[in-house]
Amino acid sequence: MNNKINLSLDAKKIDTILVLDFGSQYTQLIARRIRELDVYSVILPWDIPKKRITMLNPIGIILSGGPESVTKNNTPRIPEIIFELEIPILGICYGMQTLAEQYGGQVTASKTKEFGHAPVTLEQESILFNSFEAGSSMDVWMSHGDHVAVLPDQFNLIASTPSAPIAAMAHAKKPIYALQFHPEVTHTKEGSIILANFVFKICNCKAQWNIGNLIEHRILDIKERVGDKKVLLGLSGGVDSSVTAMLLDRAIGNNLICMFVDNGLLRKNEAEDVETLFREKLSLNLLVVDAKKIFHRHLKGVSDPEQKRKVIGRTFIDVFDNESSKLKDDINFLAQGTIYPDVIESSESESKEARVIKSHHNVGGLPDEMKMDLIEPLRDLFKDEVRKMGSELGLPAEMLNRHPFPGPGLGVRILGEITQEKILILQDADSIFIEELIKAGLYDKVSQAFCAFLPIKSVGVVGDERRYADVIAIRAVETVDFMTASWARLPHDFLANVSNRIVNELDGVSRVVYDISSKPPATIEWE
Ligand code: XMP
Repeated sequence: MNNKINLSLDAKKIDTILVLDFGSQYTQLIARRIRELDVYSVILPWDIPKKRITMLNPIGIILSGGPESVTKNNTPRIPEIIFELEIPILGICYGMQTLAEQYGGQVTASKTKEFGHAPVTLEQESILFNSFEAGSSMDVWMSHGDHVAVLPDQFNLIASTPSAPIAAMAHAKKPIYALQFHPEVTHTKEGSIILANFVFKICNCKAQWNIGNLIEHRILDIKERVGDKKVLLGLSGGVDSSVTAMLLDRAIGNNLICMFVDNGLLRKNEAEDVETLFREKLSLNLLVVDAKKIFHRHLKGVSDPEQKRKVIGRTFIDVFDNESSKLKDDINFLAQGTIYPDVIESSESESKEARVIKSHHNVGGLPDEMKMDLIEPLRDLFKDEVRKMGSELGLPAEMLNRHPFPGPGLGVRILGEITQEKILILQDADSIFIEELIKAGLYDKVSQAFCAFLPIKSVGVVGDERRYADVIAIRAVETVDFMTASWARLPHDFLANVSNRIVNELDGVSRVVYDISSKPPATIEWE
């Protein structure tokens, strides 16, 4: 371990690449790719105050793409401070266009958008394309409407495509580069080499961001901050809170109290599995609160989706609050598994979609009266980094790679009023579906899969008898960011098998339907 490097949450003294966000759907991907090169990277909105950039003291800057057009007035521009810093700059897509325009070049709106693979020819040797020869060609991913039509004075053309003759440019004297295509997406096969050239050959960054080091540093940080005081953590069994628990356990052992609230709306055997893993196998200080009855009572008669979410959220807070006040020890800190995508101040974060998603996901928030200091040791990590950390801390791969599960649990998958009987049927149906997905090697191919219990009955026949019974919907989606998703094209034979098993094994179910709606307009969950 290198003790000279400070990797603590607030004051990292390591080489940092700033990604200035102009609102692209790929912004987070840029930062993730840089971190995969073991270089720390931070995302800030393009209009962030100068002071924040100065404090960050970046060693290089990447300007992201974005949905706007520089051909229109009042669209985002690169702030002066970026040029004043006199450090290397790489503009991508919108970042390239605004760079070109601000240096006196010309950007034109194309009649049609270019979206997809394109062959790019390297026109001139450049450090950005180090390890590729001039005249060679590479396959890249384009996604743009506008393009640079006239190079700014001090820039040279370094690459072109048939539809974007100025596909990459470089300043003649300064370390300023720009690409019309997207090196951050995996469709650009050589993208990580280009980013590595920028980071290591142009910015001369040192690779100091490393999950192994990070664990040791975070443990020291936590020890220093907490001393011999107590920390309370709401453990949900999901990846983020589980990794937070493991990290804190390594730092302070039994002074961490993990509270797992069983709300009765979990997947089949979930509560038992969490207890076995964390208490028996990993020896964490775990408190399981059986709150099934309280949730059941509060949810009686409630069928409106938003109302259900509110009741579940409020009941969770009541139970958590009540149980923590019963603890004999004084609790000084509350730990939370907040991760970087939850806190990024992106220039998109004010968009309607982001606002709506955040508000209904905010069910785990705790009341202000709980006078405890917050500890969020994963606050600067992407999900894949959290998983890597979890794996190094000894969490099993099956739990780290599980599909996400919503806070209100089966509460938003049982349409209409929730009853004990419906919960049991849904748990069984869901466990059959998931078991079959794993068996067929399809679980990791979809991003999220589950069953929903529909609020209707349908006629079926069993032997000679007709019966009026329940309907289960199965849903599987593919998505990168859960903001948009497409329904998974699961094989028909596989679906037939799942449907057979559900109707044969579950008495109360006469019919199974497959959800073929994408998001938008449908959401992933049914409520
Ligand atoms: P939707 O249904 O909005 O879901 O397309 C997008 C993703 O978010 C999860 N989800 C939730 N997670 N509390 C959560 O913690 C919620 O209230 C909630 N609603 C949806 C959903 O499972 C999917 O992964």
